[in-house]
Amino acid sequence: MTEEINIDNATLEQLRDVLTNKSGDVKLANRFRALFNLKCIGAESPDQTEVHKAIEYIAECFKDDSELLKHEVAYVLGQTHNLHAAPYLREVLKNDSQQCMVRHEAAEALGALGDKESLDLLEDYWKNDPLLEIRQTCELAIERIKWENSEKAKTEILEKSAYTSIDPAPPMATDKESKVEKLQYILNNQDEPLFERYRAMFRLRDLGTDEACLALATGFSDPSALFKHEIAYVFGQLCNPVTVPSLIKVLKDSSEAGMVRHEAAEALGSIATDECLPVLQSFLNDKDEVVRDSAIVALDMYEYENSNELEYATVN
Ligand SMILES: [Fe+2]
Ligand SMILES: [Fe+2]
Repeated sequence: MTEEINIDNATLEQLRDVLTNKSGDVKLANRFRALFNLKCIGAESPDQTEVHKAIEYIAECFKDDSELLKHEVAYVLGQTHNLHAAPYLREVLKNDSQQCMVRHEAAEALGALGDKESLDLLEDYWKNDPLLEIRQTCELAIERIKWENSEKAKTEILEKSAYTSIDPAPPMATDKESKVEKLQYILNNQDEPLFERYRAMFRLRDLGTDEACLALATGFSDPSALFKHEIAYVFGQLCNPVTVPSLIKVLKDSSEAGMVRHEAAEALGSIATDECLPVLQSFLNDKDEVVRDSAIVALDMYEYENSNELEYATVN
């Protein structure tokens, strides 16, 4: 007899088993759901032992092969506000047998945690890693940690964001720049430090108008895969249909890096207008595993959210 686990009513250990695919036949989308629930329990529990356990169980998944799932695991750990996650993330950054997207997300997560103890490590990888995506991520993480611990962070006036995510950079201060045209200029100006360009990006996101979205879309002409994947991520948060043509263009361009196309697929899954779904379906067999998996998970999540079958979340 197979043991049935209802993901929405499971213990930490049951969620760990689903996340790490202990039975060997758990669908990827259900593993994502288990990760989400584990994170929520970890965030809500008043008991630190439980919280640490949730973090440890999540980190066990770094042994897996799925690049998509592991990068999400690193992202989630960065959003925990808990430094107990930091040592696991440092190990992933140091491990060059992990895929680039996973190491990137681990470095970014250290920045999101504001982990001062990781500064030396991040400096090392900023200067020496052979991959541009990793060097740029480390540069941003260092700047974010420095900013968070600076006087500036206490005095700057930031508009309260509609999004709860801890981002790689704070939005630009409201008294500094609020005009879309100027923000777009900073966003695309290669002479500006990357951190400032990201601050313009998040300010544009928080403005959230169609005009701001179209300004963000100009960032897809940047040479950096890291930069472009962040634009696509922000579009997934905004869920504004004006971004759809630019996301489809990126997803269809097979010369784009997997991390960019993956993020575009995920964003299209969140926007989920009639135009997005057939596009995602056409990428279910893409040669790039992260793109294929992103399409599979996005469509599965869409179906789940739009179905009334409660037992859908039950896995064997
Ligand atoms: Fe990322
Ligand atoms: Fe991603």
